[in-house]
Amino acid sequence: MIWEGVKKFQGKPFQVIGVNGPDLMFPGRYAKMVGGDKRFSFDEFIEKDFFPSYPGFEGPKASIVHANIMVTTIRTKLTQSLGHVTGDLCDETEKALHDVFGENPDWQECAFNKLSAPLVARLSTRVFLGPILAANQRWLEIAVSYTINMMITSRLLRQIPHALRPFVYRFVPGWRALRKDAIDGRKIISAEIERRRSIWEENKKLGISTAKTADSLGWFQEVAGEQQFDQAGCQLSLTFAAIHTTGQMLSKALFRLAENVEWQKEVREEMVRVLRTDGWQKTSLYKMKLLDSFLKEVHRFDPGSTTSMHRVTKESVALPDGTVVPKGAQIKVLQDLHMDPVVYSNPEVFDPARYLKMRSQPGQENNWQWITVTEHSLGFGYGKHACPGRFFASNEVKIALCWMLIKYDWELAEPLKPKWWLGSEMIPDAAAKLRYRRREEEIDLSTL
Ligand code: HEM
Repeated sequence: MIWEGVKKFQGKPFQVIGVNGPDLMFPGRYAKMVGGDKRFSFDEFIEKDFFPSYPGFEGPKASIVHANIMVTTIRTKLTQSLGHVTGDLCDETEKALHDVFGENPDWQECAFNKLSAPLVARLSTRVFLGPILAANQRWLEIAVSYTINMMITSRLLRQIPHALRPFVYRFVPGWRALRKDAIDGRKIISAEIERRRSIWEENKKLGISTAKTADSLGWFQEVAGEQQFDQAGCQLSLTFAAIHTTGQMLSKALFRLAENVEWQKEVREEMVRVLRTDGWQKTSLYKMKLLDSFLKEVHRFDPGSTTSMHRVTKESVALPDGTVVPKGAQIKVLQDLHMDPVVYSNPEVFDPARYLKMRSQPGQENNWQWITVTEHSLGFGYGKHACPGRFFASNEVKIALCWMLIKYDWELAEPLKPKWWLGSEMIPDAAAKLRYRRREEEIDLSTL
């Protein structure tokens, strides 16, 4: 229906009745306008879609109430620490791959879509909260299930009339599990804060200074300063933003590489070439330009949704063509320009080296990196709310893939089923199977 609208209305906005009422679909050429105009509100979108005033929804609540703390922490503290967290990401990836895929040189099968979010939860928790919580099975479970339970509960709640919601939300399937995740998550985070505080107090008594922990617990606190804030809510919000988004990306990339063993070989060769000469230096991932191009192409070709930049209008807005969008309208910006033949030659073809070629044109080096957001690449949104975690996500996915490709061979166990859509969202096939086997690696990744 959405693609019919794109064809029929030729670059003009149109309306589709979606799972949450009417959605105004704005073609990609409106991304700049929507992304730079505060009247298109991100907070009101969260408010409308994710019920921040109900118990259990402390994650979305924190992403509104503590938006500033969260975004500043990710933009400054996390992104600026990327060079320092490579060692931790490598260490955790090595252990996780050993635990999950083992060392068997014979072919085995796995349903990777079910494994990717837990894998990303483990790697991300190592960076966000340190090694102790990265080994805490209940926290790792919450980091995955909190988002799933929230999506289930929210989708159902949206279908219940506003006036009834305060009375029935407790009975909506998924809500109990969501609330339990939030309660257990809060206990785990409080216990970790308490553990750190007691070490600090012990050290103080002994006259020893305690080294600052460089992770999100400390960063949120530093950014908040004297301001009171909900540390556990921010952690839940971080899992909501970071785990499934990155997990799906890793899955989609691995399925594409498993589908085409030639690309797998080429991407692996680049990894080995760069790592053999440079090791895990700050610049190594930047030098893997085919890998970057391949990931951006996966994001263009296999988006998680046909839309990006979901907003709700805070007041009525007159568009340049005179159309008036009323207050309270749900806006979604289409990723239609991902298929724009003016910018992308043969857009219907998946070309892993597409962006590598585009970057090699004069003056284009920085315009087509995976993390670069433009109206032609909306996978990370655009404008004021463009994903602040994309620099971390990019490094995390690349590091995970380096280990996964250099240590293992991958291929499809069965042909992929056609993509399955729920509204504008692409839902991955959880049962899709990959085959993998341990290979003899060209370089020892742990001693680089
Ligand atoms: C491949 C992985 C990821 C994808 C595809 C992704 C995608 C997105 C998108 C589409 C948006 C909305 C942008 C807009 O509406 O303009 C967004 C926002 C956001 N993302 Fe990501 N994201 C990813 C990973 C992460 C990670 C790892 C983090 C945290 C470390 C993160 C934190 C956030 C936050 C906090 C926001 C809200 C920004 C705001 O309120 O201004 N994301 N992301």
